Amino acid sequence: RRLCRDPASHQPLAYLRLRSAIRNVIEQRDIEPGHALPSERDLARALALSRVTVRKAIAGLVEEGMLTQRHGAGTFVAERIIKPMSRLTSFTEDLRARGLNPRSEFFERGIGEVTPEESMAMNLSPGVAVVRLHRVRYAGEEPLAIERSVVPANLLPDPSLVDDSLYEALEKRGCRPRRALQRLRAVLLSAQHARLLHVPTNSAGLAIERRSFLDDGRVVEFTSSWYRGDIYDFVAELHTD
Ligand code: GLP
Repeated sequence: RRLCRDPASHQPLAYLRLRSAIRNVIEQRDIEPGHALPSERDLARALALSRVTVRKAIAGLVEEGMLTQRHGAGTFVAERIIKPMSRLTSFTEDLRARGLNPRSEFFERGIGEVTPEESMAMNLSPGVAVVRLHRVRYAGEEPLAIERSVVPANLLPDPSLVDDSLYEALEKRGCRPRRALQRLRAVLLSAQHARLLHVPTNSAGLAIERRSFLDDGRVVEFTSSWYRGDIYDFVAELHTD
């Protein structure tokens, strides 16, 4: 807090105050993602602040990724989704935390025999039964990702237990993952994936593979996902030790 105070006035710096006020407005969704902020001049006039102060506050929020600027068009509330990488959360939880409406459209929600690749990745005996989910994940009407998940059937015996959220279904069975390994890779989205995600073929995407574990080390899920690169930011906090 002390760092944010102007030593001369003993007041928080005006641009920092404005920055956190705008951040609050965005977090309360008083201005929706994708919508424009009032112009610099209108803000300055309405708040009786200098344009330099307003510009500085906005520049800080652009740097944080909360606002985006389009030349000639103005400043908009960013539509990107910032996903902290260090917490093991589900798609549903991430979206709900942002006030968005998560939903899935399933291509496949069934049970079958594990493939050799899956049995190696999941440390399962050949031939055991697994539940397979293949779905497009949406925020409202907006497709964000495609996911293929495999879960051992001894942990989740019936695919129809997954209404929309896999983690909710696992939680109900006492099998919520406790730890996960996740790999992110930059990809160009194939024509098929791009079509499902409503973006042009060869758009930037993130291929994410997650293997999640129970406390006893058993693999709960093996999920391959393709996220839209134009919407998702994966952010990790780094420590020195
Ligand atoms: C994220 C992860 C997946 C995980 C999913 C669960 O999208 N990348 O590995 O399976 O969350 O989300 P939900 O519980 O909404 O189905």
